[in-house]
Amino acid sequence: MRVLQVASEAAPFAKTGGLADVVGALPGALSRLGCHVTVVIPAHREAFSSRRLPIESTGWEFDVAVGTRKQKAKIFQSHLPGRDGSPDVTVYLVGNDAYFDRPTLYGGAEDYPDNSERFIFFSRAVLELANRFEEPCDIIHSHDWQTGLVPAYQKVLASQWPRLARARTLHTIHNMAYQGVFWHWDMLLTGIDWRYFNWQQMEYFGQLNLLKTGVVFADTVSTVSPTYAREIQSAPGGCSLEGVLSARGDSLAGIVNGIDTEAWNPGNDPHLPRPYGEADVVEGKYAAKAALASRLGHVAPDPRPLIAFVGRLAEQKGIGLVFDLLERLAGSGRARFLVLGTGDPRAEDGLRRLAASYPGTIDLVIGFDEGLAHLVQGAADMLVIPSLYEPCGLTQLYALRYGTIPIVRATGGLVDTVVDATPEALADGTASGFRFSAVDGGAFAHAVERALELHADTDRWQSLVRRVMQEDWSWDSSARKYLRLYQHALASPPTPVRVP
Ligand code: ADP
Ligand code: GLC
Repeated sequence: MRVLQVASEAAPFAKTGGLADVVGALPGALSRLGCHVTVVIPAHREAFSSRRLPIESTGWEFDVAVGTRKQKAKIFQSHLPGRDGSPDVTVYLVGNDAYFDRPTLYGGAEDYPDNSERFIFFSRAVLELANRFEEPCDIIHSHDWQTGLVPAYQKVLASQWPRLARARTLHTIHNMAYQGVFWHWDMLLTGIDWRYFNWQQMEYFGQLNLLKTGVVFADTVSTVSPTYAREIQSAPGGCSLEGVLSARGDSLAGIVNGIDTEAWNPGNDPHLPRPYGEADVVEGKYAAKAALASRLGHVAPDPRPLIAFVGRLAEQKGIGLVFDLLERLAGSGRARFLVLGTGDPRAEDGLRRLAASYPGTIDLVIGFDEGLAHLVQGAADMLVIPSLYEPCGLTQLYALRYGTIPIVRATGGLVDTVVDATPEALADGTASGFRFSAVDGGAFAHAVERALELHADTDRWQSLVRRVMQEDWSWDSSARKYLRLYQHALASPPTPVRVP
């Protein structure tokens, strides 16, 4: 089966969050199951400046229609290395300097004003490119709002790319809060007829909605956990698209993300001072703590448990609850805290002020630092993820692998991946972390207190740590589920395009 993965970011080329981790790892897992996978992403400046994998020019260039203009696409090529005998996965990067040679992927505090045009260009370029492949693809798997037009183009403008006409499309939603909503005149840039601009297809309160477009036109739709798949079919989880999503309920699958067990492996992680596994997790974490302490300029590692937060400083991540927790517990002297994140400038400023009031207890690193994220997972005892909503979440899965106990709010994928350490779950060996439900600082602090209590019981804590490290969150089983979705889509007729 030939599968095309289309997304706006993929690790290690360009990353702002979990989407990149997924698109960087799922292709390899599918390839190990025997699929022939190709990935297409934009040629962001970051992909060249990070220089983690060599990128070459293919010499291919073609014009892409964006409204009445033609824009040049220059195609670059790289690969994701194959593993366990499976071949490398080819990655094409669609270049256009005006659109993608920029300092960040989507903008800063404000989005780039031409984001719709950039991703209209990219989505259309993907079809132009795939139509030129020697072997046509069977499945076109697109992700998030940036590529929501891909399933629409494949159906609505099928005659332009005849070699893709038989393919089936799957659109995966990673976050309902980012829908790619733009003013209606951007319809002109898409080249799609205005009759599709109606409330059942591309229109959304008078505007163009690219995520809705993907959901409506794709043959199959999925999201990144079963709980989130249920949550988004009603308000508030659906972010006003709950009607559209529940109408597609029969073809809306929820598949939990896996993790790249090679990139995230405490037994072989170049960002850790020494590798560790279950047997020597105590020593490994101590070494990581010492390395972190010296990196942060401390005189010595702190003997208190280290509670960390790693993530985007965005409302979604429960940043308000993080403030609340720090205010409640930083003065207690019972733990040390570290926040690694970047995002909302007001949250960054607030955290700077808070950290300054508790020197020696709260460490703050504002920025996006992949290596430091690994070191923190190694060094921390607990990772807090108090998200207001969480489609899947990957940091809790990295935490489990690194023997760092997650403390999570019971929402979305966090429900599907973390089992609360009740006395029963601890006794039967299913516990993997601590959960709380209410969006409330008291409930969050209570979950952290429970974790600190267990931490004080060294034997029981260590046995929990060793057990969670054994959990298998590799991509294998999730990739099999995607493969079944693909097979099912191929065996079913395409979703018809209604013209209202
Ligand atoms: P989301 O995609 O919603 O941001 P996920 O948990 O799925 O959340 O994925 C977040 C990814 O981004 C993880 O790989 C995490 O380690 C990484 N990450 C988030 N913030 C930072 C940061 N400030 N520095 C380094 N890595 C970060
Ligand atoms: C989104 C979600 C996150 C998920 C990631 C990858 O960014 O916020 O929960 O893990 O996508 O699917």
